[in-house]
This record gives sequence, structure tokens and C-alpha cells, in this order.
Amino acid sequence: MARDPVYYADYLKLPTLLSLQSPESGKVGAPMGDEYLFIIVHQAYELWFKQVLIELDAVLDGFSGPAVAERELGRFVGHLERVVAITRLMLAQIDVLETMTALDFLDFRDLLVPASGFQSAQFRSIENKLGLDPRTRMTIHGAHYTSRLSPEDKARAEAAEAAPSIRARVDAWLARIPFLEQGGWGFRESYRAALDATLTREAEIIAENPMLDAIGRGVQEAQLAQNRAHFEALFDADAYEALRDKGERTLSHRAFLAALFINLYRDEPILHLPYRLLKALMDVDEGFTTWRYRHALMVSRMIGTRVGTGGTSGHEYLRATAEKHKVFSDLFALSTYMLPRSKLPRLPASVEGALGFRSGVSAG
Ligand code: HEM
Repeated sequence: MARDPVYYADYLKLPTLLSLQSPESGKVGAPMGDEYLFIIVHQAYELWFKQVLIELDAVLDGFSGPAVAERELGRFVGHLERVVAITRLMLAQIDVLETMTALDFLDFRDLLVPASGFQSAQFRSIENKLGLDPRTRMTIHGAHYTSRLSPEDKARAEAAEAAPSIRARVDAWLARIPFLEQGGWGFRESYRAALDATLTREAEIIAENPMLDAIGRGVQEAQLAQNRAHFEALFDADAYEALRDKGERTLSHRAFLAALFINLYRDEPILHLPYRLLKALMDVDEGFTTWRYRHALMVSRMIGTRVGTGGTSGHEYLRATAEKHKVFSDLFALSTYMLPRSKLPRLPASVEGALGFRSGVSAG
């Protein structure tokens, strides 16, 4: 079928796109160049948010079935790695915006009240699709973040919050992963024995260390006892649930153990892709967290300790979201439970065989 030749400007809708910048300063005087910069940078972010949502939806769709084929995992990793690359661009764009000084910003800032990036519905969808735990969300003087959104954006954010998130899907997938128990062998028990031996050795090192006086030894022993208690929660479902209730863990107990197994035995070929998926999720989380810190820093140099145009405490609020709004902090916490490869219990032949020969089997 004959098609009309595609023309660059038509394809990209450039006349429309380039007419979408309307500085508020232009309504009260001459439009300001710095406000154009402010608008263009924000619009560029929203376009990238759109692409991030496309990638996250592709991962969510792929994870929606009862089983996940192994070859699919590679595709998900690709989508998530693209999101990570976008977060790096997001970070770099702050450099461009910081060429505007605090004084330049003050020339038009008051005209923006009460609008704020706080109202970015796409940003909220990203948080919700990733699976930000609603219990850890910061409020704005006690009010929910949706209270600052238009009715349409509020509905969209609430729908995304109610729908299954990537965190929930990954949890279900991890919980289904086989290999944690095989033919009389259990990962939990064998790992616990190796961990006990490591902690006992650590206690001996503290006891034998000639550089420690009584006080120093007491401090180190107390720290070791605290670590031991922390490790116990890994093997005790009730203690683990208590951590979940406190919001210190979000993954289910079985999913957490499966993620630990994948991280410890990631040298096994069949665990490469699951490991890369978990790593990509951490990279996405780290990308957004780094952006949050950098945005908070930029805000402190632009407005100091003033409140934001959206009504939060500004820099303080943003710094707190960087701390609290992580989605996959459980995956970061796994490092606490790592053992050196030399101390890692060898997998019994039956499990090694299963891991070696089942590479064609679905991971779900
Ligand atoms: C001069 C530059 C900027 C300043 C001074 C600034 C300031 C602020 C402040 C104070 C807040 C807290 C909410 C409020 O009280 O208003 C906020 C939130 C936010 N800003 Fe910015 N911002 C700037 C640039 C940007 C850019 C370029 C983006 C890109 C889209 C952005 C996205 C966001 C988002 C998504 C939030 C919500 C964060 C959350 O609640 O976790 N901001 N901003």
C-alpha cells in the first residue's frame, strides 16, 4: 500500500511541541528566559517519566501470568536497565537547571504557587507501579499526597496504588522459585549452620583479640549479640512477620529467603538471570533515590529553608523522602546476610544437578 512520505516535523508534531511553553512571567510582563528553562526541563522530565512508565508496564504485563519463562526474565532486565539509563539522564538534567541561580528563580517563583512537582501524577504512578509501600509514604502536614492532585490525577494515582505493583509481582515470583528444598535438603538449615559457624568464629576473634580492653570487648560482644538476634528473624517466621509489621521488611518471608538464595548462589548458571533481575531492581531504586537526594540538594540551594510552592517544608521533606521512599530496601538488606564464597555451604549433588539441568525450565 502506498504511504505518504513521512516528514520530520510532522512525525514529531514539532509545531505543537514547540508551542507548549507558556511562562507565567509573560502574563505580567516580558517572558523570562529562566522560566523557559524551568518549563523545558520539567517537560523533558515528564517525557522521560512517560517512557519509564512504558517500560514498567511492559515488566508488569510480563509478570502477570502464573509462571514466568526464563527467557522473559532477560527481556524484563532490558526494560529495567533502560529505566536505570533514564534515571542517569534525570540526574544530569539537574546540572542544566542549576545554571539558574536562586536570585534568577525568585524573579518568577511566586507566580507558580501553589503548583509543584509534588503534583506530578506520572511521578506518583512510577512510585506506585514500582510498589512504594503506602505505609512509609510521607504526608504533607498530615494530608495524603493525593489531596494535592486534580480529581483525574487523584483517580489515576489511586488506581495505580490499588493495582498489583512490580514489588508484589516479584514477591510472588520469588516465593514460587524452586530449589529451596530438594530431596531432603533445605537451604534454610544448611545456611543457618554455615552462619552459626561464622558467628562462633567471630566470637572467638573478639575473645582472642589482644588489642581489646574489657570495655572494647564488651561493646563488640554486644554488637555481635545484636547481629545474632537480627539473623534469628531470618529463620523464625513470626519474628520476620514482626519486622514486616514494623515496616522494616516488605517482601514475604519466603520471597526474602529465595532472594537470599539467588544472591548467594548466583554463580550457578540458572540463577544468573534471576540475579540480574534483582540487581536491576536495586539499580532502579538507587537511580530514583540518588535523584531524590540531588533534587533535595538543588532545592536547598534554590530556596534555602523556605517552604515549597506545594506547601511542604521543602528541603527537609525531600531529604526525608529520599530516606523513606525506597521500594526495594529488602534487596539492599540482603548484603547483611552474605557469606564469603569459601564459607558457603556446597549444594548437594541433587540440587546442583537440578540447577544445572533445569535451565530450560520456567523459573516460575
Ligand atoms: C528550581 C527547581 C526546583 C525547585 C526549587 C523544586 C522544589 C521542590 C519542592 C520544594 C518540592 C516539595 C513539594 C513542595 O512543597 O513544593 C518539590 C517536589 C517535587 N519536585 Fe521539585 N523543584 C525543582 C525542580 C524540579 C524538577 C525539574 C522536577 C522534575 C520533574 C521536579 C520534580 C519534583 C517531584 C516529582 C516532587 C515530588 C517529590 C516527592 O514528593 O517525593 N522538581 N520540588
